[in-house]
Amino acid sequence: MRSVGLALLLAAVSANAFGAFHPSAPCHEHPCPICPTCHVCPKPPEPEPMTCPALIDHLQADDADAALLKMAYSAGDATAFLTYIKDAKPVGYHTDLIPEASDAVQTNAPVMDGKSGDVDFPHGNLKPLVTVGEYFPGNGEFHVGVPDGMGAYLHDDATVRYVVQSESYGPLLYESFPWAVNDGAASFTGSHIQYVDIDREMLSTFMEHNRSAAPMIKHAGNLVSKAYNLKGEPVGPRATSGPTMTGAHLSNTDAAGNFVVGNSAPTPPTYADWLMQSLCSAHLEVKHQWGPTYGVEDSLYLTNEEWNSVPAGVDYVGLSAHALNLATKELWAVGAFGLGGYEKIVEINSGSSTYVVFSPSGYNGDFGNVESTLTAKRNAAYGPRSDNTSWVGSSNVVPARIYIGKKGFNAHGEAATDFLSRNGLAYGQNYGFATNVASTTGGLYRDAWHKDATRMNGDTVTGGFFPIEWRWNGTVTNFEHDGAWGFQEMPVGAPSGTTFWTPSGPNSAGSKSEHNTPDPTGAHAFYQGSTAGYVGHYSFPTIGTLLQSLTGDDFPASVPADYKMLVGELDVSGQIVLGGKGIRADSNDQTLMADSTNGNGKVTFEDIDGIEALSSPTGTHLIIQEDGGNHFGERMFITKARTDGTPMSFNFIAQSGGKRNTRMLAGVGIPAGTASDANSHEFSGIFDLSGLLFKSGTSFYVSASDTGYKKRLADALVPINDKLIAIGLQAHSMSNGVIAGFRCDRGGQVLIYKPHLTMA
Ligand SMILES: *[C@@H]1O[C@H](CO)[C@@H](O)[C@H](O)[C@H]1NC(C)=O
Ligand SMILES: *[C@@H]1O[C@H](CO)[C@@H](O)[C@H](O)[C@H]1NC(C)=O
Ligand SMILES: *[C@@H]1O[C@H](CO)[C@@H](O)[C@H](O)[C@H]1NC(C)=O
Repeated sequence: MRSVGLALLLAAVSANAFGAFHPSAPCHEHPCPICPTCHVCPKPPEPEPMTCPALIDHLQADDADAALLKMAYSAGDATAFLTYIKDAKPVGYHTDLIPEASDAVQTNAPVMDGKSGDVDFPHGNLKPLVTVGEYFPGNGEFHVGVPDGMGAYLHDDATVRYVVQSESYGPLLYESFPWAVNDGAASFTGSHIQYVDIDREMLSTFMEHNRSAAPMIKHAGNLVSKAYNLKGEPVGPRATSGPTMTGAHLSNTDAAGNFVVGNSAPTPPTYADWLMQSLCSAHLEVKHQWGPTYGVEDSLYLTNEEWNSVPAGVDYVGLSAHALNLATKELWAVGAFGLGGYEKIVEINSGSSTYVVFSPSGYNGDFGNVESTLTAKRNAAYGPRSDNTSWVGSSNVVPARIYIGKKGFNAHGEAATDFLSRNGLAYGQNYGFATNVASTTGGLYRDAWHKDATRMNGDTVTGGFFPIEWRWNGTVTNFEHDGAWGFQEMPVGAPSGTTFWTPSGPNSAGSKSEHNTPDPTGAHAFYQGSTAGYVGHYSFPTIGTLLQSLTGDDFPASVPADYKMLVGELDVSGQIVLGGKGIRADSNDQTLMADSTNGNGKVTFEDIDGIEALSSPTGTHLIIQEDGGNHFGERMFITKARTDGTPMSFNFIAQSGGKRNTRMLAGVGIPAGTASDANSHEFSGIFDLSGLLFKSGTSFYVSASDTGYKKRLADALVPINDKLIAIGLQAHSMSNGVIAGFRCDRGGQVLIYKPHLTMA
């Protein structure tokens, strides 16, 4: 009988709370502590020491050690990962799909745990790239759910590096296994940012066969190695009592460093120092993507914490964006957009070499019970607003926004060369879309305007982006001092009567701004969606000229803009093209959206969440992903963007999940054994891979040394039906089995979608 070495036992116990085994650090011991019998590490100081195998790889291969290790544990969490060792599959292994074309009961598709349902998708095929709960052999790192923001770039000429984050809530829901930063000085639970390195040539033909993604996966793992807080300090350990004086993850604390996150009382993570809370969407910005010198100076992945739960009665800093330097794996907290928490922040063509332009979207201060405390503190510190009324909670009192950042300047406006400064992410001004509602919209704020039954595609609101008073200056304060409140004030410098065009006016919250997406043609413009179900296009064509002709001031006083509606909060049921699919379990179809409040279903879109615009020779297409609690399966559509007065057609791509969905009610999970309950899913995250895979003749058109501009050009050359598009799918109903065992939060898949549209 074999004996399990003490070293093996200790390695298992310390395996980062059973999710990331991080075993591939060079082995400095002889023999290897992971498996003394199977592998002999060379003795240092040999130049390239071999690495120990991942613990999980060893245990998968060695039944005896796995069984003995299992016996050595008595109960609880510790046994879970051993129970599921044999179920764990490598990244890319699964070929079965969580999403479906129609409910299985309508098509006699299989209703079987671990198996696809109806995969006869009407507007293009889908295949899984990664399924949550898979791990990368060699480092033992598991893929964490639920997938959300994403992007991809060329790691080298033969490798597409796909980046994806999980939207995880740590101790507020399920604590994912921790990831360590700053040489192990600190760790995070909650959301992860992970990468998958994919063989570029194999990816380019992935949709031409039915085989799994596994053979094309070269590497995968955690993409962050160093993290810096809003003060620029390396994130360090959380103090065991009292405030963390240096290195606090300030999204978790008050300005003094006291940990404050929790539903009813502060609840620090069990296995980690800090919570990286709800990384929602994200955008990957490759250096100079808008022109030979236009755009950020480093390739970066811009992500953001979205919302938080903080008990009443405490102070709180708020939630920042985070910019990941893709070359160095350093993650920097960004204060310049303000600290209201973000859904998605996207780079837009600035038309200038010396400025960057972003559009931030999101809640603007959704922090749970502490909101009333923060509002009281705002009123106490600042007195009434200039209209002599009290401040109201900042959440969802916010217009469409842009941020203008000056490259090469720090938060004090001084010349600087550090990462945030050189990318225009330290010194900048936030602006909101404002108009004279009395004269341009008949007195209607945004939500009401989009509900007006006379609204037509192309309806326009003329206005401009005007600044708020606040500007980030590098000093971390509590949230009552943040810029988020500025949207309740008069836009700075605007003509009398001009107000920020918020969802519901300055005195109450309206519908949330969900995803935005840059106009991919390079126009100075972005698309913006809303939970109310409307989508529009904000355009500001003169910004490049304004930025190039600035004299004296660092930022323009305002930027003329107009808004054109694509779709209102109006009946779209006749514009939905199902292609014969989308048949629901109750025999109705997905032209109607049935949630808990609407019987057979509502005729408008509901909770439009994910949006990304894709450029092709026939125009711009949008992929639209709802997050509305659809009982029969959440919907995803692809449509051609139009503002010329023609109603748009929304082509149904797929559905997934739902409380009344046949496969969900039968407990289908992928991987098998992961289903926990019949519940809503959510497609979330879209990235156009086609530029990275486009070939001119037999060679790839873009190379790793090219700037982002060439990828944008290549994207636009690929016809919509030839595109490969990465899509995220969150399967909130799959949190058992291998996913629970390895602390991967909740399930989901990253899918590759190849459109098939008859009217491209
Ligand atoms: C993939 O499998 C489906 C269903 O079995 C089949 O209809 C399709 O032709 C296959 N595609 C390829 C490229 O082999
Ligand atoms: C606010 O109150 C002050 C002092 O009473 C007054 O001077 C001012 O005109 C008021 N402003 C508005 C917008 O009502
Ligand atoms: C920096 O900004 C904060 C508000 O965000 C403010 O309270 C503080 O006074 C400012 N500091 C300086 C030096 O201007």
